[in-house]
Amino acid sequence: MTARILYGKEFAAKIREEARREAERLRRETGVTPGLAVVIAGHDPASEVYVRNKHKACDELGLFSLAVELPETATREELLAKIDDLNHDERIHGILVQLPLPKALAAAESEVLFRIDPAKDVDGFHPVNVGRLSIGEAALVPCTPAGCVRMLELAGIPIDGARAVVIGRSNIVGKPMMNLLLQRSATVTVCHSHTKDLAAITREADILVAAVGRPGFVTADMVKPGATVIDVGINRVAPKKLVGDVDFEAVSEVAGAITPVPGGVGLLTIAMLMQNTVTAAKLQMTK
Ligand code: GUN
Repeated sequence: MTARILYGKEFAAKIREEARREAERLRRETGVTPGLAVVIAGHDPASEVYVRNKHKACDELGLFSLAVELPETATREELLAKIDDLNHDERIHGILVQLPLPKALAAAESEVLFRIDPAKDVDGFHPVNVGRLSIGEAALVPCTPAGCVRMLELAGIPIDGARAVVIGRSNIVGKPMMNLLLQRSATVTVCHSHTKDLAAITREADILVAAVGRPGFVTADMVKPGATVIDVGINRVAPKKLVGDVDFEAVSEVAGAITPVPGGVGLLTIAMLMQNTVTAAKLQMTK
């Protein structure tokens, strides 16, 4: 069998178009343009690329975007003061602090993220949003897992009643993915580095999500024939070569559908960030 390849580009375009239309309607009806602030401290080259792409996406969709650049030497107090300003800035409906923070600020990461007004928390990292997602209330949801689930829906892959296995238990991907799939009535198992006989569990999955951070971790013998395999890993194995967590060549001979890396779910993250910014603006207008 050769799997259907789920290209992120196709699904990202649909999500972006939905966000663009919603933003346009909001502007027409209320005069408000959704606005996103991206805060970056220091000069991590990969982060700078991601941040540029976020501003570009805002421009393309007609969203307001604000770049907040702090030096590598910024203090915890300066960063918190900046977030306080943005929490009160009426032009801004979404705030994203680009991670990782510089080493000197790393210990303050939780404090910084939790300072963001939950209504503007477009990363969905604030405990209020984490809690709301887990009890099934309207919440801002982390962009990567939200994008993956939206892609499954757009691709017509059934979630209700499916056996879903998530490998990885991070707060950014694994745990919110578990909650999103559970909310849609999948039977969800979360595996991690201490899981025993991992392959026996993954072979049960109709939907297998890999978010481990290890190149080629998911091999063909771990996949049930016909399963949908979502690869959230982005691993740099050479200066210009990125690979996922899944052995794409071998697994695509077994799976029914599979996302490639690059060109897979990575593209959904920014699309979902745009959607979250519009959602945040709408929620703030109706408050
Ligand atoms: N750096 C890498 N991924 C992410 C993300 O999802 N959100 C933020 N804020 N920073 C990141």
